[in-house]
Amino acid sequence: MFTKKTVRDIDVAGKRVLMRVDFNVPLKDGVVTDDTRVRAAIPTIQYLKEQGAGIILMSHLGRPKGEGPEPELTLKPAADKLAELTGWDVKFVADTYGDEAAEACAAVKPGDILVLENVRFLKAEKKNDPEVAKRLASYADIFVLDAFGTAHRAQGSVVGPAAYIPAVAGLLLEKEVDTLTSIFSDPERPLVAIVGGSKVSSKIGVLDHLIDSADTLIIGGGMAYTFFLAKGYTVGTSLKEEDWVERAAEMLKKAEDKGCQILLPVDNVVTDHYGEDATGEVVDSDKIPDDRMGMDIGPKTRELYCEAVKGAKTVFWNGPMGVFEFEQFADGTEAVARAIADSDCTSIIGGGDSVAAINKFGLADKMSWISTGGGASMELVEGKALPGVEALLDA
Ligand code: 3PG
Repeated sequence: MFTKKTVRDIDVAGKRVLMRVDFNVPLKDGVVTDDTRVRAAIPTIQYLKEQGAGIILMSHLGRPKGEGPEPELTLKPAADKLAELTGWDVKFVADTYGDEAAEACAAVKPGDILVLENVRFLKAEKKNDPEVAKRLASYADIFVLDAFGTAHRAQGSVVGPAAYIPAVAGLLLEKEVDTLTSIFSDPERPLVAIVGGSKVSSKIGVLDHLIDSADTLIIGGGMAYTFFLAKGYTVGTSLKEEDWVERAAEMLKKAEDKGCQILLPVDNVVTDHYGEDATGEVVDSDKIPDDRMGMDIGPKTRELYCEAVKGAKTVFWNGPMGVFEFEQFADGTEAVARAIADSDCTSIIGGGDSVAAINKFGLADKMSWISTGGGASMELVEGKALPGVEALLDA
């Protein structure tokens, strides 16, 4: 349950609202190539507009290296995209912390929308410098955090203004936190969690926390091979993290103690080298030849995993089952994505590569919720508090 105040709990009429969004979108030749995050911010902006607030939007875009503007990382294309998607008059100022920005903010009237330049063009932003926070807060009466994808960063524009002006959550942030934490509060059962991706080390916190709640935990992707080592199998030249074998073994033991069923691949598509031209063959998990590497789950595993999904009332998925970027190793990820899409369970998709996979297979509209956050959704699923959310007013 979301325990912070939201835009619905505060009177914004006639006020200037500074809203941190996550417009960190992919660009090609200055054009937004995936507008998901811009679309996701619209409901809160619309709500504030209807309530009679003047809206100042700020975001980061990419990871600027130096100090000062980097033309290829300007937020102007995101502002233009917002205007294009909504038909609203969206103003843009090519400044964030200077006089030009301050003047543009002071001119914002009820119903106006102004987008500031990339907050990361100043290095102090990333360090949560109080001067940055004070400056930003001086632009408005109220701070709204709707940048779920950045809520795990304790940076100036995310957590800073809350120290100076009332700070509440936007509707996207509320929905993201509510949905992702519902996996642990009161999920409809059975809850099946599917975790893939290359490394155990980067998902250990996620696995650890999911075992506490899931009825079944399905493991796929490169991380499966470290679990194979923990079970005493050999894995050929597959991706593996020797230093994490012991932790993987602990996870298996913990799952057993907690009554969480863990499913590991029973067969795999293996090949002799990593590459687009590689060809696959299917081998059982305890028979991976010394000169072969695993690239995808095999057909028996696909069937096993899809059956588990069919029986689920709630599915949480993060991470692909194989190297789905190469067609010949995409079957496992596609089968799992289709099983989720065909099921009438509540499907919650953690950000990152699984979202890319779902989009690749054209299944996005079949999912109940696709998180707009990568790192932020993982930290939440690990059970960590997000600094951005922590800084907001309690409900
Ligand atoms: C993301 O894309 O995950 C967020 O926008 C955060 O970006 P960052 O990892 O550069 O802070």
